[in-house]
Amino acid sequence: MSASVSDLRSVFREDLLKGQVALVTGGGTGIGLGISELLAALGAHVVVASRRPAHHEAAVSAIRARGHAASSVALDVRDHAAVHAVVQEVAATHGRLDVLVNNAAGNFYAPSATLSPNAWKSVVEIDLYGTFYCSQAVHPVMKQQGGGRIISTSMTLHYRGWPLMAHATAAKAGVDALTRTLAVEWAPDRIRVNAIAPGPIPTEGVRKAFAPPADSGVPDLFAAAEERMAEYARTGIPLGRWGTPQDIANMVAFLASPAGDWITGAIFVVDGGEWLAKPAP
Ligand code: HXC
Repeated sequence: MSASVSDLRSVFREDLLKGQVALVTGGGTGIGLGISELLAALGAHVVVASRRPAHHEAAVSAIRARGHAASSVALDVRDHAAVHAVVQEVAATHGRLDVLVNNAAGNFYAPSATLSPNAWKSVVEIDLYGTFYCSQAVHPVMKQQGGGRIISTSMTLHYRGWPLMAHATAAKAGVDALTRTLAVEWAPDRIRVNAIAPGPIPTEGVRKAFAPPADSGVPDLFAAAEERMAEYARTGIPLGRWGTPQDIANMVAFLASPAGDWITGAIFVVDGGEWLAKPAP
């Protein structure tokens, strides 16, 4: 028996995205998986794109087991030619591409003074170049079909200085700029371009990315004992709890739906109020 939308704790109606096609990069794990699952539960055919077959294949099996539609594709968003080939393939197979979710991201704590050129390049290429390559690739398809929605993941750490994350904060600031610029440039094509800045969501990938170098003096919140994590949620996050992939997925679904018809160039912070309340590092 297929799971209903309510099993995913969604407030949206079940056929909200029926007949639509969504491409979710990094859609096989963590926040991306939550997004893939919800969009599929709302009736979209979701193409889960990620570098590792183990990730996207497992996600697609889980989505299909619920009776929803999904397929997978191996993709490194840093590979411009591969991105364009995948988008062409999706458009040829399904005849359309309605929603692009630029979720793929790479991140780790590292001192800026010793960050290697390749370390800098890896994160900036995944987060910023990847977002641009995918957005650029879907543009002609969405334009030709009369419109579409692009939703990218940003972050809040670049709203102030964030030591040990020069690469990721620079890249995500770029994603914000890109969101606003593409929104204006592509509005005549009826392509809405928005972003979401998630707060702390302790997925496996985030826990790994936010493990600070041993001698940095930065506390590793995500590796802390359950009790300390609960304490941080109580004291550090105004709404009193950690985020979940579903919190972000719900905002994606809202922006992908007609409820977002007059929204473009917006960056939505979904973080329980964390960044506003957080003391500077
Ligand atoms: C210093 C590091 C490093 C680290 C990697 N490098 N990890 N340098 N400290 N902890 C360096 C490597 O030494 C290498 O440089 C270069 O980065 C590339 O590393 P590779 O492993 O060869 O690259 P690759 O396999 O392409 O992996 C990309 C990656 C990796 C970004 C480095 O971490 C990754 O795949 N991440 C994807 C998953 C992920 O990070 N998810 C978290 C997203 S969370 P040299 O010079 O040695 O060649 C997120 C947070 C949102 O984005 C914000 C919420 C608040």
